[in-house]
Amino acid sequence: MVVGAAVVEVVDVVVVEVVVVELVTASDDGSSAGSGSTLTSPVPHAATVRSNAGGRASIDIRSTLVVGPLPLGAPRVGSLRAMTGRFDDHSFIRACRGLPHDQVPVWFMRQAGRSLPEYRAIRGTGTILDAIADPDLSTEITLQPVRRYGVDAAILYSDIVVPAHAVGFGLTVTPGVGPEVERPFRAAEDLDRLRPLEPEADTPYVLETVRQLVAELDVPLIGFAGAPFTVASYLIEGRPSRDYINTKGLMFTNEPLWHALMDRLADMAIASLRSQIDAGASAIQLFDSWAGALSPPQYERYVLPHSSKVLAGVADTGVPRIHFGVTTGELLELIRDAGADVVGVDWRVPIDRARARLGDIALQGNLDPTMVLAGAAAAVEGTRDVLARNDGHPGHIFNLGHGVTPDCDPAVLAEVVRVVHTEGCINP
Ligand code: CP3
Repeated sequence: MVVGAAVVEVVDVVVVEVVVVELVTASDDGSSAGSGSTLTSPVPHAATVRSNAGGRASIDIRSTLVVGPLPLGAPRVGSLRAMTGRFDDHSFIRACRGLPHDQVPVWFMRQAGRSLPEYRAIRGTGTILDAIADPDLSTEITLQPVRRYGVDAAILYSDIVVPAHAVGFGLTVTPGVGPEVERPFRAAEDLDRLRPLEPEADTPYVLETVRQLVAELDVPLIGFAGAPFTVASYLIEGRPSRDYINTKGLMFTNEPLWHALMDRLADMAIASLRSQIDAGASAIQLFDSWAGALSPPQYERYVLPHSSKVLAGVADTGVPRIHFGVTTGELLELIRDAGADVVGVDWRVPIDRARARLGDIALQGNLDPTMVLAGAAAAVEGTRDVLARNDGHPGHIFNLGHGVTPDCDPAVLAEVVRVVHTEGCINP
């Protein structure tokens, strides 16, 4: 439990008062982590965790403090600010942390854009990358579903391929198709086309959109990034794929190059996420949409270390981290082990079964999107089923099991929100 935390920021000077956190930890088999061992995260400014006999661990954040002028380019201590964040009492943030709250929070993946007529009215004719580069337009598109549905969180209007595009990898997003790459990633030389992301210089428009949104929103803003595997699948295949033959081919035939690529994409995701959090995002989601293409041993060997690195790379910020993929039924335990605060569950695994398998971690999901397409009666029945299976657990964020589809009727989603808000209950 956090005993006390306060951050005062004066221009470039950060002063943090003493923060001592005590919590009880025990490994899965119930044993303590060992006497006197020290775990120091590789992340700059992360807390130092010392575990003592009996499984009690003390986290001494004092060792991470920057007191005095920040060195040029140093990451700010967003963590401590986030722990005393504006939305700490909001149901969405409390649900992510598994804390009791008043109302089951709901938002929808792909709520921004696609199905809304007000989106089509202002979207323009360029590619989505042009729309994302326009902060006023992206701000408005992000706000549209919040206004229309009264959802409990906004998701930034951007895309998982924006960082790779911004460093000049050479890709576009073709309407109706998705991301396409002119020269797909094939060999070590292609790593040169993936230099490190400098968010303030490379994606200033994304950060301007986040800042505008934070000034306007009265619900938390979710920032996001693509997980290394899912981004790699676009860079390697060159276009959306069903079987990931080239991606898995690289994985199986050139493991060093595979890990080098994944490591660069992990660094890119960390830089992007940290910049969004620094600009004011209250939570983040790591989308590994296509991870379900892998078997558990493949995921564990080729993907898990890199997604873990991304999630650890933003841990010190203190904002809730959601980790989601589709067709991940066989991978759920591994996805949990990657280290997020919330596991996104697709509709194939009922919430009660996911909870029985994963233990006491917050879950997000998981109404089948096709039940929304089937009309209000089916959508409401499915919504009630998800709520019943969650059975009042406070660590639940209602969502679809994947994104809103372009042909969905907004009136049906509005009805889903109404049912979640009026019928969802939370155990004290
Ligand atoms: O509400 C939101 O989803 C916020 C914005 C958002 C977009 N893409 C906008 C977008 C987010 C969070 C994403 C993430 C994303 N992008 C993922 C992970 C989430 C998921 O759905 O699994 C993936 C796999 C991508 C890659 C991508 N970009 C695809 C597969 C497509 C679909 C192509 C199409 O036309 O349907 C895109 C394009 C895209 N990204 C659109 C939007 C609103 C639609 C095209 C457009 O409006 O121009």
